[in-house]
Amino acid sequence: MDKTAAEETRTPSHAGTADTLGVAARVFAPIVAAGAVKRRPKAMAFAERRQTDRAAIDLLRRLRGEHGPGPLVLSVPKRTVAVLLDHGDVGRVLDQTPAQFTPDTVEKHAALGRFQRHGPLLSRGRDRERRRPFNETVLDQDRPLHHLAEPLWHKVTEECDRLAEAAGRSGRLAWRDFEPVWARLVRRVVFGDAAADDRGLTALLDSLRREANWAYLRPRHESARAELADRLLARLEPADPGSLAGAVADAAPGPEVHPEDQVAHWLFAYDAAALVLMRTLAALSAHPGPRHGVRTELAAAGASGPEELPYLRACVLESLRLWPTTPLLLRDATADTEWGGEVLPAGTSFVVYTPLFHRDPERLPYADRFTPRVWLDGTADAEPAMTPFSGGPARCPGRNLVLFTVTTALAALLRRNEYRPTATGPLVHGRPEPATLNPYSMVFTPTAA
Ligand code: HEM
Repeated sequence: MDKTAAEETRTPSHAGTADTLGVAARVFAPIVAAGAVKRRPKAMAFAERRQTDRAAIDLLRRLRGEHGPGPLVLSVPKRTVAVLLDHGDVGRVLDQTPAQFTPDTVEKHAALGRFQRHGPLLSRGRDRERRRPFNETVLDQDRPLHHLAEPLWHKVTEECDRLAEAAGRSGRLAWRDFEPVWARLVRRVVFGDAAADDRGLTALLDSLRREANWAYLRPRHESARAELADRLLARLEPADPGSLAGAVADAAPGPEVHPEDQVAHWLFAYDAAALVLMRTLAALSAHPGPRHGVRTELAAAGASGPEELPYLRACVLESLRLWPTTPLLLRDATADTEWGGEVLPAGTSFVVYTPLFHRDPERLPYADRFTPRVWLDGTADAEPAMTPFSGGPARCPGRNLVLFTVTTALAALLRRNEYRPTATGPLVHGRPEPATLNPYSMVFTPTAA
């Protein structure tokens, strides 16, 4: 273990039955109810009405006040489950992944294993050593503009330009107008234009993801999983050189990489980006300052090819801070770990509830305000637990690619129209940002920009 990190960590405390049940009811149950792998729109609407994330954040802050900032060990039979309450402890667990803390947890195996048996988050040891670099290379982890930015920009812009035009004509942009366009755009980005209309592929993946919401509670549907793997492999060849499939072919992965399962993860992860896009659009429609900042940036940028658009990108990141799409980061300890002089056993499940850290008023003066600036001046990046894309060696290798995709899509939508919410929602300029924001009920009225 890294000595400095060990010295800085705090002693664990133990929650009684009442507090454990409180965490189960207020932190875990709403996430499970809303669909951890494939969101359930009705449950999301309920969660927004009840502002379930606020209740969870308040409970964990109270428990931190009562028990101290060390890991809070829940009273769970047969397993040690520790909820992290301190920003530095989160940094330690993420930095020491995967050696001390594996992302391949029991829960993820039960859920994600239904459609990506060899997926990146389910890989350990030598398998991870092969699959992680494959993901980093194909997704071009470190470059703000992917090496395929040019062809990808054309696909994304074409789809969103058409959507913006149709929205302008109909006078409406709702989730149900946006969702099929996004799915088509993602198929074009991942597999190329020949897959644009393969709605059956997305439907098959979605049905397996809905089953994955039930983790171990339902039997596995092995034939559907095998069919998905076959269809994904078939879509990777012949590879369209202007899509991620082209980058997969260039990387020439060996069979142990199981590229079909890596791709299944990408398609699944691109769904989160759709939620982020709609929430960013809603935040921009509510806040005149950021909206003006985006307009100024778009007016100065060209509209004929890929650009970084740092301000718009910061708005996307800020919406991810306020409404993270991965609210739980889970890690299982691979060995005994020391915390402020005490030892938690190998196999301990460490839980990071990201909204607590993204919106912690005891540490972040901007906790509940839409403040894109914090992503431009280094403020957010200096926070060890500011983790919309996780952190450390297992952080999201698709971060740059997905930020590019979402900013490109938003730029195309915003170049044509302004968007105003059709009905008053929970986002109101001058008020703290709502803790839960449901994108499925959003309806905008577009007016020509
Ligand atoms: C807004 C969209 C996205 C968000 C917020 C996001 C966030 C995350 C987070 C939080 C993790 C870590 C999960 C954990 O530790 O349990 C992760 C992992 C990962 N993401 Fe993303 N992601 C997004 C989109 C994408 C896309 C579009 C791709 C691929 C095209 C991608 C590829 C990956 C991969 C391969 C991993 C596994 C990394 C590993 O295990 O080493 N992500 N992502």
